[in-house]
Amino acid sequence: MTFSIVLRPARSSDAAAAAPLVYCSGPRELDYLFGKAPEFLRFAFESGRGAFGHACFTVAEREGRVVGVVAVASAQDTLRRDVGLVWSLLRFCKLGAFGVVTRGLRLSRLMPPPSKETLFLSLLGVSEDVRGRSVGTRLIRGVVERAHAEGYAKVALDVAVTNDDARRLYERLGFRVARQRAWAHRGNVPGQRRMELDLTVKAAAPLLERLARSGEA
Ligand SMILES: CC(C)(COP(=O)(O)OP(=O)(O)OC[C@H]1O[C@@H](n2cnc3c(N)ncnc32)[C@H](O)[C@@H]1OP(=O)(O)O)[C@@H](O)C(=O)NCCC(=O)NCCS
Repeated sequence: MTFSIVLRPARSSDAAAAAPLVYCSGPRELDYLFGKAPEFLRFAFESGRGAFGHACFTVAEREGRVVGVVAVASAQDTLRRDVGLVWSLLRFCKLGAFGVVTRGLRLSRLMPPPSKETLFLSLLGVSEDVRGRSVGTRLIRGVVERAHAEGYAKVALDVAVTNDDARRLYERLGFRVARQRAWAHRGNVPGQRRMELDLTVKAAAPLLERLARSGEA
């Protein structure tokens, strides 16, 4: 039986349901960055601004409930997203924002911003009760289709070296590990693998077909 979901742009009113899903995408990285990550994520998502604002997200909705989230970014968005994030931080944690910016710069060496030809997928999370029902695959497929339509050469993402289940899912969809980076500072942050899906090769058409089939479940 088809497990029906709808993908749509996120809204401010999704914040309560979406923030825990954003958090589950990388709790150790987000706790390192923000300290009180779940509270900040809800605030930032609702505000709409910056890298964690709803304007960057697509949600998967099932029977009126948000069951999955994914964020998309391009190199052109980087400045606007960073400025929006600092705005949210200054409002949420005032002087604490400076510590977050310092930790964010360290994290950006582990997870550098995308190059111009790349659409970057991040903060993918699906509700525990619907995992394994292709919601994640369909969110990823939506990003790949958008990248293809907008003429990007690649889709890229970072996955923690400890997250083998998610890495296998990405590999099944055609992503390959491009490089791996280790965490070089204090704090409980896992190393990251940068994975890329090449959309320029001739194989792109069959690959998109395969993605379409894998999301039909
Ligand atoms: C990874 C995640 C987004 C996949 O979403 P999903 O809707 O369960 O994925 P799909 O149903 O499309 O695909 C299932 C695949 O995901 C993988 N997977 C990862 N974690 C899983 C889980 N807890 N339950 C079921 N499948 C999981 C499995 O390898 C499975 O592959 P298989 O079908 O070959 O066995 C989801 O499990 C999740 O939110 N995990 C926690 C957050 C996370 O790790 N995010 C990724 C950060 S890079």
